Amino acid sequence: MRAATGKRLDAAVLAATGMVGQRYVSMLSNHPYFRLAAVTGQSSVGKKYGEAVPGLSLPISDGARGLRVKATSADALGDVDLVFSPLPTDAAKTLEPELVKSGYNVITDASPHRMDRLVPLMIPEVNPSHLELVKYQKRGGWKGSLVATPNCTAAGLALVLKPIHDALRIRRIIVSTMQAVSGAGYPGVPSLDILDNVIPYIKDEEEKVETEPLKMLGSLGRGGVVPARFEIGAMVHRVSTTDGHLESLYLETEERFDPPRVARLLAAFRGEPQRLRLPTAPAAPIIISDDDARPQPRLDRYAGTVPGMSVVVGRVRKGLDPRSGRLTLLSHNTIRGAAGSTILTAELMYRKGVLN
Ligand SMILES: NC(=O)c1ccc[n+]([C@@H]2O[C@H](COP(=O)([O-])OP(=O)(O)OC[C@H]3O[C@@H](n4cnc5c(N)ncnc54)[C@H](OP(=O)(O)O)[C@@H]3O)[C@@H](O)[C@H]2O)c1
Repeated sequence: MRAATGKRLDAAVLAATGMVGQRYVSMLSNHPYFRLAAVTGQSSVGKKYGEAVPGLSLPISDGARGLRVKATSADALGDVDLVFSPLPTDAAKTLEPELVKSGYNVITDASPHRMDRLVPLMIPEVNPSHLELVKYQKRGGWKGSLVATPNCTAAGLALVLKPIHDALRIRRIIVSTMQAVSGAGYPGVPSLDILDNVIPYIKDEEEKVETEPLKMLGSLGRGGVVPARFEIGAMVHRVSTTDGHLESLYLETEERFDPPRVARLLAAFRGEPQRLRLPTAPAAPIIISDDDARPQPRLDRYAGTVPGMSVVVGRVRKGLDPRSGRLTLLSHNTIRGAAGSTILTAELMYRKGVLN
């Protein structure tokens, strides 16, 4: 595998015609660290990318439009330095380990390997040190590497929990979500099921939201991550918005929950991507709205300096006792919850020399 910090690295996007794959192709179209060298799919293999996604509404480069969609296998991929994998769950389960065995550096949005002991589950502002696990992978004889991005609801949630947990120590949270239809991929939920409706169930989602933030907020121990020790109760709903997951959060903390202080903490939060000025890092990962009727998906999903990468938080207010509080957050599911965060992780890996 070629890879050296300082020059652009060749990247492949698997399942590039899907909801998340399209985001990647758009965000990598003119990227300073990565060159989009290959796209893969299943039913669209052999077509030009621009023809394989006829309804493409995101801006992409002419180069990306002209790429031939390849089969999703190590043989077809060729010599690329980095593989972005928004594969469907079942395909990811077997294909990702095969690619790692063949020597590829894979960063995945799919769920099967997120909780594996040696796989870092990354939101770069939350747990940059967890990339150390890639060293353990190498020591364990892995030819390539595997790094994961969390579930789209867990991503925005972990980002907001990080500064609160650091300052107030969280004891317990209850989160109720209102999740956009693009979270179910394309074509996703049938329109006659979701229009004029709310569905109070998304398969396997509550389990992911209740466990993944604890891994991200955990600390590196011997050979793996020791999860943070607080409780998460999740209640998820599919609603008829297109993009952006809204989450209504109730928190219990060890320290006093003072809403103005918490709002200031969130607004001031910065992580390593901001300090390193990574290309996809928003100036502020969390934006506070003091409008009582915000955040709203339609108005706020693209807020901030890198559209879709900032989580917007509003209605920070007290709970039922002095050590509890409430807030509402909005996070773009295919950008902060998938392609955007994963590209940010890849940028961090590039700058830290982890892809060498
Ligand atoms: N949507 C979100 O908000 C979101 C957020 C976070 C994580 N994720 C995760 O990201 C992954 C992709 O989600 P999505 O919403 O983009 O799904 P999607 O819109 O349903 O995309 C499906 C894509 O997978 C390709 N594909 C299907 N079967 C394949 C196979 N066996 N081998 C290789 N490629 C195959 C399809 O290619 P063809 O078009 O060529 O058939 C298409 O590009 C899932 O694991 C999902 O859980 C999604």
